[in-house]
Amino acid sequence: MKNEDDESQVSPLTPSEIYLRSDEGSSTPAPYHGPRHQQKTSKLIVYILITFASFITIFIIFGSIFFLARTPKAKLRSVTITNLQANSNASSINNTNIATLKMTLTGEITINNGKNFGRFELENHKASVIYENVSMGEGDVFGGNFKARKTGSRNITVQVRSNDYLSNNTNFRKEIKSGSVYLTSYARLRGKVHITDAIRRHKTAVLNCTMTLILKDQAIQDLVCT
Ligand SMILES: *[C@@H]1O[C@H](CO)[C@@H](O)[C@H](O)[C@H]1NC(C)=O
Ligand SMILES: *[C@@H]1O[C@H](CO)[C@@H](O)[C@H](O)[C@H]1NC(C)=O
Ligand SMILES: *[C@@H]1O[C@H](CO)[C@@H](O)[C@H](O)[C@H]1NC(C)=O
Ligand SMILES: *[C@@H]1O[C@H](CO)[C@@H](O)[C@H](O)[C@H]1NC(C)=O
Ligand SMILES: *[C@@H]1O[C@H](CO)[C@@H](O)[C@H](O)[C@H]1NC(C)=O
Ligand SMILES: *[C@@H]1O[C@H](CO)[C@@H](O)[C@H](O)[C@H]1NC(C)=O
Repeated sequence: MKNEDDESQVSPLTPSEIYLRSDEGSSTPAPYHGPRHQQKTSKLIVYILITFASFITIFIIFGSIFFLARTPKAKLRSVTITNLQANSNASSINNTNIATLKMTLTGEITINNGKNFGRFELENHKASVIYENVSMGEGDVFGGNFKARKTGSRNITVQVRSNDYLSNNTNFRKEIKSGSVYLTSYARLRGKVHITDAIRRHKTAVLNCTMTLILKDQAIQDLVCT
């Protein structure tokens, strides 16, 4: 009895009781239970949203691991130089400044497909040896498949020949004379990453390597691929 009295003394302070009393005549249990129903419903909605968000998160995590195609990385290595002929005749008698360079460059282009869960199907391409912005020759990079999660490679041979533009290039002439020539090897290696048999994504592995040719050694130094 005391408890009931206590409750009746406390309860008038709560807004819902006040609301009920002010509206006594027409009141039914429904408005009183209403907020609880709403609470249950909103909890249910929260649970559904949390479950939904969890599924989305799991889907995104798995999707990003298995279904996203990453760009394979291309690098040049094991470069050897043969048949080197270099000539800088800056001090020639009749004042024609002729600088020439001829050589055969062979090397291996590696394509790292290690971050993909599907094979990389490469098209046929050419890779160039470039001085500043002038191509000095191209070599074939044969297409084909590079296995998932593996690094594969292609051999490349480029016949390097300086042309008239380069013979007139002051920097080129200086470098030939100094005995070390700064070269770039460049290729855009386009292909498809096969995520499933049906889903393929075009990706281009960019080969961009700089190196220094040492004339007296017929060798390459400081080969750096970015
Ligand atoms: C300079 O050029 C001439 C012909 O133009 C050639 O005979 C000579 O060997 C060249 N000099 C050098 C150092 O290469
Ligand atoms: C002088 O220049 C001409 C071209 O202008 C070239 O044919 C010739 O070989 C050069 N002579 C020498 C000695 O470099
Ligand atoms: C290389 O660049 C220079 C200027 O930076 C330009 O004058 C020249 O035409 C370019 N050569 C080629 C082959 O694009
Ligand atoms: C690439 O070159 C290396 C060394 O020259 C050789 O052992 C290898 O068989 C070549 N690979 C292909 C696919 O030709
Ligand atoms: C190279 O320079 C010579 C002399 O300056 C000029 O006659 C010739 O046209 C130039 N060649 C090129 C490809 O620019
Ligand atoms: C190649 O890499 C060098 C050094 O990172 C960069 O300066 C250059 O712009 C790159 N070339 C191309 C064509 O992306």
